[in-house]
Amino acid sequence: MILMNAYYNRLRLALALVMVLVRCEIAIAQPQGSNARIDALLTSMTLEEKVGQMTQINLEVVLKKNNGSIVYPIEVDSQKLHEAISKFGVGSFLNNGRMAHSREEWISVISAIQHMASESRIQIPVLYGIDAIHGANYARNSTLFPHQLAQAASWNPSLVSEIAKTTAYETRCCGIPWVFSPIVDVGRQPLWSQFFETYGEDVYLTTTLGAAAVRAYQGESLSDNTSVAACVKHYVGYSAPQSGKDRTPAYMDERTLREIYLPPFQEAIQQGVRTLIVNSGELNGVPGHANGYLLRNVLREELGFEGIVLSDWGDIERLHTIHRVAHDNREAVAIAIDAGIDMSMVPNDFRFCAALVDLVKKGEVSETRIDSSVRRILQLKYDLGLFDNPLALPLDADLRFGGESHAKIAYQAASEAITLLKNEKHILPLSTDMNVLVVGPAGNSLSYLNGPWTRTWQGNDTIIEQEDERTIYQAILAHSATAMYHIGCNEDSIVNRSTMTSDALKSDVIVLCLGEKPSAEKPGDIRDLTLSAAQLTLAETAIAVGKPVILVLVEGRPRIISSFVDRCQAVVLAYQPGSMGGAALADVLFGKVNPSGHLPFTYPRYVNDFLTYDHKKSEEVDKNYGSNGYNPQWSFGEGLSYTQFEYSEMKLSEDTLRADEELEIIVTLSNSGVRSGKDVVQLYVSDEVASITPPVKQLRGFEKVDLETGAAQTVSFRLSANDLSFINAQLNSATEAGWFTVEVEHKRRRFYFKP
Ligand code: BGC
Repeated sequence: MILMNAYYNRLRLALALVMVLVRCEIAIAQPQGSNARIDALLTSMTLEEKVGQMTQINLEVVLKKNNGSIVYPIEVDSQKLHEAISKFGVGSFLNNGRMAHSREEWISVISAIQHMASESRIQIPVLYGIDAIHGANYARNSTLFPHQLAQAASWNPSLVSEIAKTTAYETRCCGIPWVFSPIVDVGRQPLWSQFFETYGEDVYLTTTLGAAAVRAYQGESLSDNTSVAACVKHYVGYSAPQSGKDRTPAYMDERTLREIYLPPFQEAIQQGVRTLIVNSGELNGVPGHANGYLLRNVLREELGFEGIVLSDWGDIERLHTIHRVAHDNREAVAIAIDAGIDMSMVPNDFRFCAALVDLVKKGEVSETRIDSSVRRILQLKYDLGLFDNPLALPLDADLRFGGESHAKIAYQAASEAITLLKNEKHILPLSTDMNVLVVGPAGNSLSYLNGPWTRTWQGNDTIIEQEDERTIYQAILAHSATAMYHIGCNEDSIVNRSTMTSDALKSDVIVLCLGEKPSAEKPGDIRDLTLSAAQLTLAETAIAVGKPVILVLVEGRPRIISSFVDRCQAVVLAYQPGSMGGAALADVLFGKVNPSGHLPFTYPRYVNDFLTYDHKKSEEVDKNYGSNGYNPQWSFGEGLSYTQFEYSEMKLSEDTLRADEELEIIVTLSNSGVRSGKDVVQLYVSDEVASITPPVKQLRGFEKVDLETGAAQTVSFRLSANDLSFINAQLNSATEAGWFTVEVEHKRRRFYFKP
């Protein structure tokens, strides 16, 4: 520890020196003011240097290796780094060299990179970006928050802000000023392997939480060394692959695109998001990276995005190798640049640079086009304060990074996310004198709780687990010292079922922890949402014992459980709740925490029956002409509590809403149960008749309310014509005259909209 501190202090001194030197040189060489500075830089840069700024390279390319394998702890290979920065002028790096590193390693590596940049001819600092998507997940000992889907289940924008703010802080503590987060793709295809990275199926919830995250990441000023540049992704339609497989075609009409998938991006742009990653798949036959209509006409001209458009991983080359819209890499680069990409996440070689330089030299891409991208990139570097100090660390980093105060936020987030979906005869909360048997692959695993993007990309490597994290079983031991654990099965095979059964016979209750092990992107592709066969068998074995079964689901997408769930007494959905998830889950099971999570998606009952809550009326009508065509396991917005909430009748300020007015909706909520608790007041609106078939209802407001027993609170929502609008056949946002129904907790009122 003492040695580490001494090393760290020396490192800081060296960094301070580098920063002073960089600052002096730039200050002398360049005029003041960002525009003037950028103009001067652009004039002095060669074409190769400009193209280098548009190039983003994987850290691995410049790391020391032994027989092709990265040497740990990581160190840069000066020769390779020199080649990247001085020969190719690389302006940006990403990723982690395959696993998480200590802060000290990160700082040492970033400082080496910035030092090399400060010694290059043009001395432009490097922009380092990282997937910090549930905390600074590639830094050892950082705080690991619940994944986005779980964050959405909290229905708490200020908690989402706290998470983003803390992530920004911890990322900056590693010397990194840019995060590839949040995902604002709307998650309506539950098979999709990145479903857990979304805020769920609803456009309003996604838009609200995405905007909160963007604001919190970027803070008051990007030059503040606790703020980072945010990056919304993956523009647009990425989350809707028809096959459910990652990076495969999506098809949708433009109206749906504008109604559902575009608004979260639009709002993030309004909030000033500085960067954006492009859809790696294709939409209606056009790859995201070749879609000039969406990138130029819609994103730039219509939505007014002025920030950096970053390609996704290797996706320019994939225009040739996978999508087959280009004959070779050179043509792929020409197509992507023409479509509007500013920076290429290449990531493993420098062929992008060679191709783009050649295209400009031969007059196939104009240098003015290159200048506009480079200007945006330099502007961000300037705004992040990198020109003044390429490695500004928060002053109290040693005290706060991965510390107690951040763990509390992670615990709070997990506690507010965990969703109670069934609680027959109030079996939960459990009492501490019960004999508890924990079974199932998710019951004693940190990887299940933390999910993907945890220390490694796929997150299923246990070598960097932290001692202070507790699995569900370990956390249950703190409440019930006699608790026992049997794995029972792993995802693919059954193990020790008979000893499990004999222990189950001696127990009072079985906590059955099932789900899916972490996986992300392509490795997470599945063909069937049903829970694995081994886990289904385990569930049947546990149920056959005859003791109450509490089903705990640790999963990133809704795996089908309808064959046995009716025979479980309680169901708790934990999502992927992060490093404090085990503690929070045990506290929910034993009543220390009153659950308040609500589903951010509709949990399907049947494979292939993926209706969302905002389906059309025609989808409710089944073949017998009844109205039970929509029959999910649980619907969007559901979530139980250990207390009882009562809702008053709604009061509306008017019966008629006019175009330039607002309608106020007031409802009073009271806690009539025996525990304090939180509930989410959800306001839905239905357009009764419209020129485009209206969804049965749509979320238009929500508020999480915390109430002591016996307490009441009045919640008020304001609706304007804009909140009632939809995209019409002419692709315009329109609100048509007519009757609307508002609904809060199954209570409804009507009002008339008169333009
Ligand atoms: C993912 C992005 C991620 C990027 C960088 C891509 O494969 O689609 O979400 O930000 O890799 O790691």
